[in-house]
Amino acid sequence: MERTFIAVKPDGVQRGLCGDIIKRFERRGFRLVAAKLTQASEERVKTHYADLKAAPFYAGLCEYMASGPVLAMVWEGRRVVKLARTMLGETDPAESKPGSVRGDLCVDIGRNVIHGSDTVENAKREIDLWFTADEMLDYTSCAHACLYE
Ligand code: RTP
Ligand code: MG
Repeated sequence: MERTFIAVKPDGVQRGLCGDIIKRFERRGFRLVAAKLTQASEERVKTHYADLKAAPFYAGLCEYMASGPVLAMVWEGRRVVKLARTMLGETDPAESKPGSVRGDLCVDIGRNVIHGSDTVENAKREIDLWFTADEMLDYTSCAHACLYE
């Protein structure tokens, strides 16, 4: 089983999209491992997006991500990192297909409502950055046997 870090960004929280987004992950069959509404420090956000340090939009991105509440979550499932990225759509909502989060719910690349880890390695790094071990719950989903062969 894999885990991924998903966050509803401040624009998504303000627009009341948390329920819609959680619902998509639940219906797909992923297990919720951890969730909290939190306002991140700029320091945490800068670490989170450290690989984009050289990008012209980095400062604005970090300022925005720290500007309001974020719904931080960990979701678990087989190949969840890749599957979640497909559910998110492309970075630019204009390139995102209908049916994806960004293809359904937003229009601007700088306000694209959701973050999802792009690799298994980055998922581990991001989960450690946003959550402590005791915030992550281990329980058996009663749907497991219906979801996996
Ligand atoms: P995320 O990390 O937030 O899930 O997004 P992503 O992998 O699809 O895209 P990434 O390259 O990691 O970029 C992080 C966020 O930076 C903003 N961005 N703006 N103005 C631009 O050209 C531009 N490019 C990226 C987006 O909000 C993107 O989600
Ligand atoms: Mg990214």
